[in-house]
Parts: sequence; structure tokens; C-alpha cells
Amino acid sequence: MKRISFFLISLMLSGGFAMAQPSKATLVIATDHPQFKIHKEIYGQFAEDLGAGIYGGIWVGKNSKIPNIDGYRRDIVNAIKQLSVPVIRWPGGCFADQYHWMDGIGPQSQRKPIINNNWGGGEEDNSFGTNEFLNFCKLVGAEPYISGNLGSGSPKEMSNWVQYITATNGPMADLRKKYGHPAPWKVKFWGVGNESWGCGGNMTPEYYSDLYRRFSTFLPNYNGNVLYKIASGANADDYDWTNVLMKNIGYRMQGISLHYYTVPKTWADKGSATSFSDQEYLTSIEKTLHMGELIAKHSAIMDKYDPQKKIGLVVDEWGIWTNVEPGTNPAFLFQQNSLRDAIIAALNFNIFNQHADRVRMANIAQMVNVLQSIILTKGDKMILTPTYYAFEMYKGHMGGQFLDSNMKCDSVNLGSEDSPMLSASASEKDGVLTLSIVNIDPTRDADLTCVLRDGTYKSVMGEILTSKNLTDINTFDLPSTVQLKPFTSAKLKGNDVVLKVPAKSIITLTIQ
Ligand code: AHR
Repeated sequence: MKRISFFLISLMLSGGFAMAQPSKATLVIATDHPQFKIHKEIYGQFAEDLGAGIYGGIWVGKNSKIPNIDGYRRDIVNAIKQLSVPVIRWPGGCFADQYHWMDGIGPQSQRKPIINNNWGGGEEDNSFGTNEFLNFCKLVGAEPYISGNLGSGSPKEMSNWVQYITATNGPMADLRKKYGHPAPWKVKFWGVGNESWGCGGNMTPEYYSDLYRRFSTFLPNYNGNVLYKIASGANADDYDWTNVLMKNIGYRMQGISLHYYTVPKTWADKGSATSFSDQEYLTSIEKTLHMGELIAKHSAIMDKYDPQKKIGLVVDEWGIWTNVEPGTNPAFLFQQNSLRDAIIAALNFNIFNQHADRVRMANIAQMVNVLQSIILTKGDKMILTPTYYAFEMYKGHMGGQFLDSNMKCDSVNLGSEDSPMLSASASEKDGVLTLSIVNIDPTRDADLTCVLRDGTYKSVMGEILTSKNLTDINTFDLPSTVQLKPFTSAKLKGNDVVLKVPAKSIITLTIQ
């Protein structure tokens, strides 16, 4: 009996019950010392030609019964505009290094079909090509980020693509005019290959560096369109790859990419997107937080060659990768999205914000119907996922000045290591302070006092994303289970803001 009550008391003290006492926490924010700009492109998207990411997701064609604007789903266009998506990466991913852009221009009925060998081997009619992608970006107000084919293409093919898109004259520009777009587009972000250590050609970093130097030599800046060239960077902790590229390519590139996915279990059995234990959730959080170490270590290598941080780290693939939804094509990577996904997104955002002096862009994998999507579609139905709301909550950080902050709070055991239960990031733009806080603890609330070191503030408003269970999702039948709600209980007391941060929640405060 005695042993049982001792067990119960320890469990309560360790936070084992939802009724546990709230933990006390303090966050000091250096409002007097803005540090660096948080580039809006950190909140970017990735839309590969994969599964129903493009075909059926974004693009249904003009003759579809699904409401559309010139072939683009109207519901998707509205949702993406609402989020102010800053940049979209296309056409891959692995698909980029098998894509020959000239197959995807001209009258749609005359385009050569393509077999999508990377993702299931299905035939596609190529009706979504360069014009369709660039017009889509214009429609939703996002910058395009083109991922060029270095793996199976040639320098001439990539060079011609730049001319087709951005030049006023020349044979490729004439082709563009013939195909209905007289004026050139502007394209800034240009990837020179994707995962060249893997699906993009299985190269060594030395060989890739040589190829990068060769290909990038033939990518001109036409008519004031200045390309920001991004080299295909490391897989997770492959620090040697970064070191060799920094040494051998140097300032011939403006950005270098990094790919890292949160895989809850193993690559062979990644784990379910919708059914997982608290322990599996905590393991996913531990793996997500590893992003901070990866960025710090890749940045340290970059600092050796580029101490002024002119070359950007571009995390152009990140997110949680689980098993596909049962009954769906395994090659299409269609997965559901729970409150856990939103928390993972918010933790990554805090890490990116904290490293925004080096992280120039980040693109979640992927925008619609693939991996950690912000939007899922089924026929004419569409739902916004919890991850969509996480993006919405962080909009205020886009283009803001990063403010350093220091969190003192209890820890949560993630499995093999402990982590502070709260994660936060703050920024300032046009006199408005945006503060985002994540409570990763599945059961414990936190009473948080935020100390604003300087300034005079009169109001605080907020939004919260949480739900009864970490596994809660939005479905086509019940699309509003996980919803953004107003958060009104944060109070200003002098220069402090006090609030309770519920277990497993994300809060964004706007303070002015
Ligand atoms: O996002 C899915 C795939 O993951 C991409 O095509 C590839 O670059 C990465 O391995």
C-alpha cells in the first residue's frame, strides 16, 4: 500500500498526470537589441512533381469540374494566398534531376508525356510545366525557386532554361514569346541539382563541386534578373559534404542546401502519422530538435570559409516523414497530419529564426498531399492541416528582426536526453513584437512570465493551437478538429507578460 502511494506521488510530481501542477518558467527577451533579419523565405514551401502534389493537388486543368482558375484549384489558391507563402520550390526533389523542361512547354495537348520513375512510375501528361508553375507563383504571390537538372541534364539545357524564363531575346526567349508569354519572368532562386549525393547522381562532393562550377558558369543574369544559385548540399550530418563544397565552390554559390527529415522510428518503418504513443511523440521531438545541432555545426564549417555569412544555408527539405496513409500508393508519400506535426513545424521555425543570420530559406516537404503538408485534397474536397495553422501563427516573424531570448523552465525527458519543456522565438517588425512559444510537454502546463527588457507596451493579443490529443487530425469529414483559436488570457503587467502555456500547445502573442 505504502509503495503504491509513493508511486502515485512520484508520478504526480514528475508530471505523469494531466492534473500535475503547472511548471514555473521565465523568458527574458532582449527587446532592446534586435539582432538580424528573419528572411521571409524561411517560411517557404516545396512542391515536387510527386504523387498528388501537383496533379490533382494544385493543378486540375481548365476543363475540370473542380472549381479552378485557369487550371489551378481555386481552394488551394485561396489557402496559399491567405498564408502569404513567400517562395515555392519546384519541380523536385529527386524528380528535378530527371526533368527535362522542354518536354513541359508549348501547347499542352502536344507535350510529350513523362514517366515519373522516382515516384511510382506512372505516366504524366506534362500539362504542368514551366509556364504553369511560374504563372501559379504569380497568382499566389510567391517567389519561384526552380530546381535545375544537373544529374541527367546538360549545362546547355540548364542554361537554355534560364534564357527561356528570364531573357528578353535569344532563341529560347523567342520560344517563350511563341508560347504566350512575351515578357520575361523574374526568377531569383535557382538550385543546381538536388541531393547529388543520392538520387541526383550518387556523386562524391569533389565531383559534384566540379560539376557545379561547370554548370553555374552557364547560368547568366539577364536584364537585371540576378540569380541566387543554390548548390545541392548535405544530407543531415554529412559535414564533409559541406566542407568540400565550401572549399571548392566558395562564392560561386550564394546558397548551399541542407536536407533533414524527422523520422519517428526508422527509415524501414517510419511510424504511423495518426497512431503513436506519448513516448513515440517525444522521440519525434528529440529528432526534430536535432535540427538545431545540424544547423549550428554546418554553420560553423561555413564560418571558416565565409565568416561574414554571405552564403546562405537553405534548408530546402525538412519535416516529419511517416508511413503513408493505409491503402494509399506507397510511392505517393501521402500522410495525415496531427497536432504533433504542428508542434514539430513550430519547433523548426524557432530553430530557423534563432539561426536566421545563416539560414536564408527553408522549404517544408511538401506543400500539398505529400509528407508534412499544409493542405490535403480528396477529389473536390480540401482540408487545412494543423501544420497550416502553425505557418499561419508564425507569419508575423517574416521579415522581422530577431530578438534574442533566454528561457528558464523545467525539462522534459525525451528518451535519450532531456530538453527544456518550452521553446520560444521572438522578433520585432514595425514596432510590433511577435513572440511564439511551444510547450512540448504532453501533460504539463507552464506558468510563464515573459520579461520585456525594454520598450513600452500597451496591448497583447494572441492565438493558440492545441487539441485534446496529440494524435488529433483534421479529416475530410471533420475538417475542424484542430483549429486556431484566439488566446486572450495573456496579461501585460508593467513590462512583463504573464500567461499559462497549456501542455502540447503553440501560442503566438502580438505585443505592442
Ligand atoms: O521530399 C521527398 C524526397 O525526399 C525528395 O524528392 C528528395 O529530395 C528527398 O530525398
